[in-house]
Amino acid sequence: MEAHSHTTPPAGGPALGSLPVEPLLTAEFDVDPGAVYERLRGTYGPVAPVGLLGVPVWLVLGYTEVTEVLRNETLWRRDIRYWRARAEGRLPRDWPLLAGYEVRQTMFMDDEEHLGSRRTHHSALSPFQDARSPEGWELRVAVARYADELVGMLAAESGAVGFADLGAQYTRPLLLMVTTKLFGCPVELGDELVMDLWRMLDGGPDSGPATARALGAFTRLAAHRRARPGDDLTSYMLLADPRLSDEQLGRELFMNAVYLNDITGNMVLNTLLEVLRGNATVRRSLSAGQLGETVNRAALANPPVANMCFRFAARDVRLGEVWVRAGDAVSPSAAAAHRDLLALGSSHLVGSAVSTRAHLGWGAGPHQCPSAARELGGLIVTTAVGRVLDHFVRAELTLPPDQLPWRSGPVVRGLRLLPVRYELGAGVTAAPRRTTPSLNSATSATTATSATEHEPRGLLAILRKLMFVGR
Ligand code: HEM
Repeated sequence: MEAHSHTTPPAGGPALGSLPVEPLLTAEFDVDPGAVYERLRGTYGPVAPVGLLGVPVWLVLGYTEVTEVLRNETLWRRDIRYWRARAEGRLPRDWPLLAGYEVRQTMFMDDEEHLGSRRTHHSALSPFQDARSPEGWELRVAVARYADELVGMLAAESGAVGFADLGAQYTRPLLLMVTTKLFGCPVELGDELVMDLWRMLDGGPDSGPATARALGAFTRLAAHRRARPGDDLTSYMLLADPRLSDEQLGRELFMNAVYLNDITGNMVLNTLLEVLRGNATVRRSLSAGQLGETVNRAALANPPVANMCFRFAARDVRLGEVWVRAGDAVSPSAAAAHRDLLALGSSHLVGSAVSTRAHLGWGAGPHQCPSAARELGGLIVTTAVGRVLDHFVRAELTLPPDQLPWRSGPVVRGLRLLPVRYELGAGVTAAPRRTTPSLNSATSATTATSATEHEPRGLLAILRKLMFVGR
């Protein structure tokens, strides 16, 4: 990385450090982040100074400005060595978000190094993305089977009619099962991993030890798969780039685990929530059989990565109505930018019949979610949501939507719980979970999968009927 100068501040506009910033992570933000974004926008325009656990950063709120930051990598750098406050030793040593930013992996690389690392991810993920390859097929079957097993477990534990938390009893274990399989973990990953990832992302007081624990686990996994390669992502990353050290591969797996568990989980739960609380456009797209479009609409209403990780200005630059100085940190907010899109929705951009693909749920520009990862994430989300809609004939929220408990951190806004009262369809068999995946059991689940593709059952069938009656 070239050293860069932090001199020659522009004449106009105050420096970030000299502004009285309001803390972002308040009780109000927890309950209603949209109101906070709108107030900041009303005061400062599309780019606002905020305090993140005591450190001032620019929060980018406008759709135009967010896409500019995401797309222009020459001006907006990812390498945290560009961060002036860090370079000058002005960050508190125990600043809880630093642990995550110090994990040097693809997201925090620029230029050739970044491109090379992205290629490694892409090439290692590709076999799983393609349904025609053995790995891709097996993974698809496994995701559906794990989902069915978890619903079967629910039936065994709580009965065909009862109460469930679709976070703790369905989404989180499902994604841990998928991660265990995809990464080739010799032992099943447990919920304590997800809690450590939450601590790191949300900047809890113990984010340092939590990050170290998770990194340690993935570094050991890297060493294990180097010694015993298999048909898994870890081994394929080593095949794609044999020069990867165990430590670097551990860091890359750690970041993938964040996306695969927390971010994918948010997308599953947010989509289920939008369906359950009766968002009319979401239900309409669902009734038309477009689960992918339902996911897009949910991502627009509630993006799984609310505020993306920092970019650093390569030089002094005007953004919105402020001057961002070289080395300042900016966080592009997909959640705030989507409010621009939703406001435009009343005209032509996001009408009920128009594609919602302009959402930033997958990011944008050179660091956007790699296409193979996107396909994989999309597949997992649609399968996870589809199996719930398939197996449940009734599911209602047991809390009013405005009382649901959210984790509103600097990066994600995700549901802690999704409590529902449910009734399962007659076809669900109560079953304890199988812990050893086998190709034979995968094959029997295949029959159920293809049957549902043709003939909607459960909640999905009911939703379709409702929409038909409503016309
Ligand atoms: C539904 C699930 C997912 C969503 C919503 C999602 C979203 C995102 C977003 C918003 C970014 C860009 C972040 C930024 O620019 O700051 C990103 C990057 C990334 N995602 Fe995904 N992701 C998902 C699933 C996955 C999965 C399953 C994997 C891998 C197993 C993955 C791997 C990555 C990687 C490697 C990057 C970094 C790319 C780079 O910096 O060049 N993602 N993802």
